[in-house]
Amino acid sequence: MNVPFIAGNWKMNGLRAHGLALARDLAEWLETVRPGVQMLICPPATLLSDIATLAGSGPLLIGAQDCHYRASGAHTGDISAAMLADAGASHVILGHSERRSQGEDSALVAAKAAAALSSGLRPLICIGETLVEREAGLAGTIVARQLRDSLPPGLDADSVIIAYEPVWAIGTGRHADAGTIAGMHALIKAELATLLPDGGDVRVLYGGSVTAANAAGILHLPGVDGVLVGGASLKPADFKAIALAGLGGA
Ligand code: PGA
Repeated sequence: MNVPFIAGNWKMNGLRAHGLALARDLAEWLETVRPGVQMLICPPATLLSDIATLAGSGPLLIGAQDCHYRASGAHTGDISAAMLADAGASHVILGHSERRSQGEDSALVAAKAAAALSSGLRPLICIGETLVEREAGLAGTIVARQLRDSLPPGLDADSVIIAYEPVWAIGTGRHADAGTIAGMHALIKAELATLLPDGGDVRVLYGGSVTAANAAGILHLPGVDGVLVGGASLKPADFKAIALAGLGGA
């Protein structure tokens, strides 16, 4: 049984003073919470190194939001997985819908995930359908295909995390309902079981308008191993409340 995994995606938010204060507050708070929850924050790349330094060897995990699929070379403006690992990241979000909507396809996500793994980073791969796809009855087909095509070869359950993030729920204040989340997580887990030898053990997070108010209901659904939180991860009291919801409100 996995402990709940609570991940925060800061997106393109966080100037130095505010970002470091937010991370320090979370790192100190997490030390005081009994083990039973894993917490990851994914700040902008500019803050990775400083935040990784302040988190030190404590329990707060640090991740990046994207990486390039090549290890180095003539790719102006891009950042390789090895550079992120060098800056202190242990995880990297890949295939977020905000990147897929700019033309990133699952094959590219798989190539980035392979690069992440070879640099020692654990990829957190996002999949999810648009509203048009859901209304056309294609949610399951789309999500299963994204999953299959976004996974690099040679994975085991512990080396990857999946986040189911319906695009229509991201940043809209409209989270998916319990039946939708449980159904999609069951589908994703069944698909993972066919793709990896120990695929049933891969953690699957839910993301999309998770708040302090709805987190407990979502985290206790079958097949939900944690949450990927955008907006609420920038509000310390809300993000802590979400983590505590994973502990059963302790
Ligand atoms: P949100 O974003 O929590 O603000 O909806 C989630 C995400 O994009 O990962």
